[in-house]
Amino acid sequence: MEAYLNKGIKEVIDEFPEVEKILDEYGIGCGPCSVGTCLLKDIVEIHDLPLDKEQEMMTRVATIIYPDKIIEFPQIQRKTDDKPKKIKYSPPMKKLVEEHLLIKRWVALIPEVLNNLDVDSEEGRQRLLDGVDFIRSYADKYHHAKEEEVLFKYFDEDLDILKVMHEDHERGRSHVRAILEALERRDKAAIAEHLNAYRELLTEHIKKEDEILYPWMDRNLSDAQIGKLFSEFTKADEEMGYSSDKYEVFIHNLEKNFLQKEK
Ligand SMILES: [Fe+2]
Ligand SMILES: [Fe+2]
Repeated sequence: MEAYLNKGIKEVIDEFPEVEKILDEYGIGCGPCSVGTCLLKDIVEIHDLPLDKEQEMMTRVATIIYPDKIIEFPQIQRKTDDKPKKIKYSPPMKKLVEEHLLIKRWVALIPEVLNNLDVDSEEGRQRLLDGVDFIRSYADKYHHAKEEEVLFKYFDEDLDILKVMHEDHERGRSHVRAILEALERRDKAAIAEHLNAYRELLTEHIKKEDEILYPWMDRNLSDAQIGKLFSEFTKADEEMGYSSDKYEVFIHNLEKNFLQKEK
């Protein structure tokens, strides 16, 4: 079993397709990941399941790999204890999780934005451009830039989990470019297609960061690194030259607007 723990997950899944289904049942979605060179043992460490669940899952995986043997599953060494947990973030991670909250509020408004989409009037087009400005200035420049230019630099950027995060950010950017091109053509269907795809992408992306990536990063950063990270975030925000207040107001007004329309 040790040998399989040190194998890339795609290789394991190629050899034993049922393993993908088992991982999936425990909320570990490796199948669709386009990179897929994470080692099986790293996946177990990163996802940090409760020990009994981890044991149960790995025993099932071992039974697939060695159907004729009774496997003593070696416990993966981890840096955390076994208490059931509500995720407790360090101050810099908490800041990012809070920024996600505002991005999630925008993502939740996308169906309403599309219901009210008007590409024929100057005013309607500007409404969409304001939404795109939120994505580009807040979600991307203000938030993703801190991840890419500060946080991810604390880790080996060749790690699959970070490659996947970078790819998600890039896919988000290409949806935004496609939305703007579609707006030029007044193509409502293409705007809807890319805005919905952005919604789906960001929903999953934020979930991966909140539930898997940030807690794993917190477990691997020293107190000194966490302190340094926090001051680097503060500096990055200051250098950005604008505060997030403007975007809080933007989202708040949009919510109020749509809520009033519903009455
Ligand atoms: Fe991200
Ligand atoms: Fe994020």
